[in-house]
Amino acid sequence: MDVEKIISLCKRRGILFPNSEIYGTFAGFFDYGNYGSELKRNVENSWWKHFVNDRDDMVGIDGAIITHPEVWKASGHLESFNDPLVGCTKCKKKYRADHLVEMELKISVDGLSVDHLKELIEKHKIKCPDDKGELKFLQPFNLMFKTSVGAESGNVAYLRPETAQVIFTNFKIIQHSSRKKLPFGIAQMGKAFRNEISPRNFVFRTREFSQMEIEYFIHPKKIDKCEFLTNEHLKYELNVLTSANQEKKKSHQKMKIKDLLSEKIIKTPWHAFWVVESMKWFENIGIKKENLRIREHLKTELSHYSSETWDVEYNFPWGWKELEGIANRTDFDLKQHMKFSKTDLNYFDEETKEKVIPCVIEPSFGLERTIMTILLDSYSEEKEDDEVKVKLKLDSSISPVKVAIFPLMKKDGLSENAKEVFELLKKEFVCEYDEAGSIGKRYARADEIGTPLAITVDYDTLKDKTVTVRDRDTTKQARVKIDKLFEFLEKKIS
Ligand code: GLY
Repeated sequence: MDVEKIISLCKRRGILFPNSEIYGTFAGFFDYGNYGSELKRNVENSWWKHFVNDRDDMVGIDGAIITHPEVWKASGHLESFNDPLVGCTKCKKKYRADHLVEMELKISVDGLSVDHLKELIEKHKIKCPDDKGELKFLQPFNLMFKTSVGAESGNVAYLRPETAQVIFTNFKIIQHSSRKKLPFGIAQMGKAFRNEISPRNFVFRTREFSQMEIEYFIHPKKIDKCEFLTNEHLKYELNVLTSANQEKKKSHQKMKIKDLLSEKIIKTPWHAFWVVESMKWFENIGIKKENLRIREHLKTELSHYSSETWDVEYNFPWGWKELEGIANRTDFDLKQHMKFSKTDLNYFDEETKEKVIPCVIEPSFGLERTIMTILLDSYSEEKEDDEVKVKLKLDSSISPVKVAIFPLMKKDGLSENAKEVFELLKKEFVCEYDEAGSIGKRYARADEIGTPLAITVDYDTLKDKTVTVRDRDTTKQARVKIDKLFEFLEKKIS
């Protein structure tokens, strides 16, 4: 799949495009357009419904982007949230060492230590891609964006690099206000910021992005028993790349969750549960299962807070890359915040009358990456009369527009009738009225943004109050009475 086609479609149709284009763009920042903002909201709503509203062990929050700077000391981000940096001794340009090695040697750099990167740069005599100058390793680069708060100088604060910490700092308040008992989760979606050295691959790696995260809190003595894990979860089969197979340079293989657990490849049933729940959501929004796999982090690549991480990866045009990380954060974060804030964040177990610090499994999704995956998986081209027509075969639940409404002609009262249909339907569905250009052009415009259904008001409408409803994927048309339209559309769209 040529990603340039997606980038071009995204700009042409107001989905997603580089920020500040009139000033020559601003690397690592993107804006959603008219259709993109609808698409984004639909993906967020679908995620929120699946992971929060459809469950009674989950609540949501919406926290601040800038938090007390101590949070980032406690979380370890100030000390450890770094990327390895190399600089050219001639032109002084700086590069992310792992990305440079990956680009130059065309190898996967997942899990490589800084020493290993150094070795590879020396062994392969990798030079500055711009002017072939010698490279030298610099101080690791902290990814957090700094800002200052208030009129006094020196009041340094940070834009959150993950939404997770606001969940941990509010754990006690939310547990009390929601009256949830372990196990339960707190979810949050919102912006996060990372000062990426080399933003790239369209919206895959940006400096401002949106996360959809869950911190799922589990009684530390019950981490080996997940009451929600059903037979359906255990029988679930997916592409798996274990750390052992990565070390042997093998590729992924199909495995069942029950085998991953019985062979202790995935260590806890809670981790396995969230892998399957995530996969189910990706499938629900139309992502093809064969383009997904889970990959275990190598010991050398684990984040400072994680004892075990599995990424859900998508087969992007630039290789298999992370779409979601599912980490076992243990009791690391709550313990750290207890230590730094000197606040008791223990959970009181009413049954055993014990105070415990819950363990945490964290499914963390990237929204822009998910949107990109949806676009890649739904993009199709069809040849019609020597013309290539683009279609986004989006799942109707996330299509920006659900129903397009056209009059066959602008004359003879057809426009007026079509506008009446639009007024009627827009109360229930996101609709778009379009009377410009030939009917073929209007169908093509609707197909390009993934509108699943298009209604045409024609001369028969004037006689018998029926319209045609065209299905985007089959292009088949059905004749439906206007007073039966709601029912018909609801069935089709759900
Ligand atoms: N909260 C995990 C991450 O931001 O990667």
